[in-house]
Amino acid sequence: MRKLILSTLAVLSMAAIPALAEEGPALEHQNWPWLGVFGKYDQAQLKRGYQIYHDVCSACHSLNLVAYRNLADIGFTQDEIKAIAAEKTVKDGPNDQGEMFDRPARPSDHFVPPFANDQAARAANNGALPPDQSLLVKARKGGPDYVYAILTGYEDAPAGATVPDGMSYNKVFPGHNIGMPQPLTDDAVTYADGTKATLDQEAKDITAFLNWTSEPELDTRHSLGIKVLGFLVVLTALFYALKRKVWSDVDH
Ligand code: HEC
Repeated sequence: MRKLILSTLAVLSMAAIPALAEEGPALEHQNWPWLGVFGKYDQAQLKRGYQIYHDVCSACHSLNLVAYRNLADIGFTQDEIKAIAAEKTVKDGPNDQGEMFDRPARPSDHFVPPFANDQAARAANNGALPPDQSLLVKARKGGPDYVYAILTGYEDAPAGATVPDGMSYNKVFPGHNIGMPQPLTDDAVTYADGTKATLDQEAKDITAFLNWTSEPELDTRHSLGIKVLGFLVVLTALFYALKRKVWSDVDH
C-alpha cells in the first residue's frame, strides 16, 4: 500500500514539474465576479468592456467569432445593435451584374476586422500580429488574470534591459518586449454609464468582456448547475423518506 502511495506521488510530481517550469512570472489573482458555482457576469461591466473594445482594441484586434447580434446577450437592444453594426462596411455579392459591392454590416454579420489580412495587420504594427481576441482569454495560461496583468503591466524598462524600437517593456509578457504599445491609461475612454475610467477599471472591464466572448454560455451553465444540484437534493430527500417508509415495518 505504502509503495503504491509513494509511486503515485512520484508520478504526480513528475507531471507537475514541467508545468512549474513553463510558468512565467506569478500572476496576481483577481476576484472575477463570474468565478465559483454562483458566479455570474456583471452585465454593466460587460457593456463597459464592449465600449473599450469598440473605442480602443478594435483599432488593431479582430473579434472574428462574435456576431453583432450576440451583443443582445449582454444587454444591448436590437436598435443599438443595428446602429453598432451599421458603423462598419462589409463586402457582399455578387449582385445581378456579377459584381461585389459594399454594404453596411448587419446584426447577423460577424465583427468586421480592422485589417484585410494578417500581412496588413503586421505591416501596421511593426511586424507584430495582434491576435484575434475572440478566444484570447481561453488561449492564454492564467486566462483573465493574464490579460489583466498584460494591460496593467507596462512600466519603464529596468536598467540593463534593451527594448527594441517600436516595442514596449511589459513585466508579464514572456520576454518582456511586447509589440503592442500600452493601450489603456487612466481616462482612455469616457464610459457611457458614468463609471470613472481608471486604468484598473478599464483593464477589468475589457477582460470581463473578452472572457464573455470566449465563454458566452457561462451564466447558463452555472444556473443549470445550480438547478441540477437543487434537483438532486430534493431527490435524495424523497428517496430517504421512501426508504424510511419501506423499512418502517421491519424491527431493527
Ligand atoms: C495599436 C494596435 C493595438 C491596440 C490598439 C491594441 N493592441 Fe493588443 N496587441 C497588439 C499587437 C501588435 C500585439 C502582439 C504583440 C506581440 O506579439 O509582441 C498585441 C497583443 C495583445 C495581447 C496578447 C499578448 C499575448 O500573450 O500574445 C493582449 C492580451 C492584447 N493585445 C490585448 C489588447 C487589448 C485588451 C486591447 C484594448 C484595450 C489592445 N490589445 C489594443 C496591438 C494592439
